[in-house]
Amino acid sequence: MPLVDRYGRPVTSLRVSVTQRCNLKCIYCHREGELNPRGEMELEEVTRLVKIASELGMTKVKLTGGEPLVRRDIVELVAELSSLPGVEEVSMVSNGLLLADLAGELAEAGLRRVNVSLDTLDGRRYRWVTGGGDVRKAIHGIEAAVEAGLSPVKVNMVLLKGVNTSEVWRMLEFTRRMGVILQLIELVSSTPGSDSFYRRYHFSLDGIEEELRRRAKAVVVRSMHSRRKYLLKDGGEVEVVKPMHNSLFCMSCSRLRLTSDGRLKPCLMRGDNLVDILSLMRSGASDRELRRAFVEAVRLREPYFKEVKPCPKLVW
Ligand code: 5AD
Repeated sequence: MPLVDRYGRPVTSLRVSVTQRCNLKCIYCHREGELNPRGEMELEEVTRLVKIASELGMTKVKLTGGEPLVRRDIVELVAELSSLPGVEEVSMVSNGLLLADLAGELAEAGLRRVNVSLDTLDGRRYRWVTGGGDVRKAIHGIEAAVEAGLSPVKVNMVLLKGVNTSEVWRMLEFTRRMGVILQLIELVSSTPGSDSFYRRYHFSLDGIEEELRRRAKAVVVRSMHSRRKYLLKDGGEVEVVKPMHNSLFCMSCSRLRLTSDGRLKPCLMRGDNLVDILSLMRSGASDRELRRAFVEAVRLREPYFKEVKPCPKLVW
């Protein structure tokens, strides 16, 4: 039985940032909400925490960064985590640059699926968005992931107004040909309220979604975040991730986060309610005490966007 928070949301997945280091510098990166990281957790520390989390019902584990593949022990870490009896699935989010070399080993170690960030197919634009990356490497990474049998492979495309929104249909054709799923992601504000980057580049996915509906033969609503998935008539598959001001998204969020420096993070959007579980562990805490820290973090979970909206008549 998974832990359930005060809003009735079961917590079934743990998103673990394994490093804040990255071989890219994407202009929009929210750094998984981690602002002042201390050092990284050791492999044994991540493994112990994931084991406890899995016993509490967080059976799905997603590794993220920074870029997870810059960690030298990443294959070993995947092997350790996927052999834990309580862990049903280990997946990863990667920028793909190092995936061409590692996909086979990762699959062998037990990695089941991967999301690869790819916001554009255009080499120059990719260099600009990522602060110098080589798009060909990312594409090779995606090919290698498919070849290694990781499934599903998803391409994460964050839409940026005036940058890549005209590329959606080309990207869709690319992902369809590769046999992978396209995930269109709405830009998330990293400092809510006062974010000029967000105001400049945020693009609503509503128009694109309408077009997808027209081209779809079926629409599936996933339980995670109530995300919609469009199965297109021509065989393509697209998921739409719309977190901003979306109370439905938050109401069906089932994940807890663990930052690379060992703090449990109840919500991507908040930095004021973290639980420092690594310090507890390093000061000799028992499994029981660590379990209590997980329970505390789940108790602190709160939907960031809630139903209650200001009434327009009361605005003066
Ligand atoms: N808004 C939306 N998505 C983001 N990602 C990183 N920063 C943002 C942001 N500000 C995406 C990346 C990656 C995933 C982990 O999160 O594209 O695919």
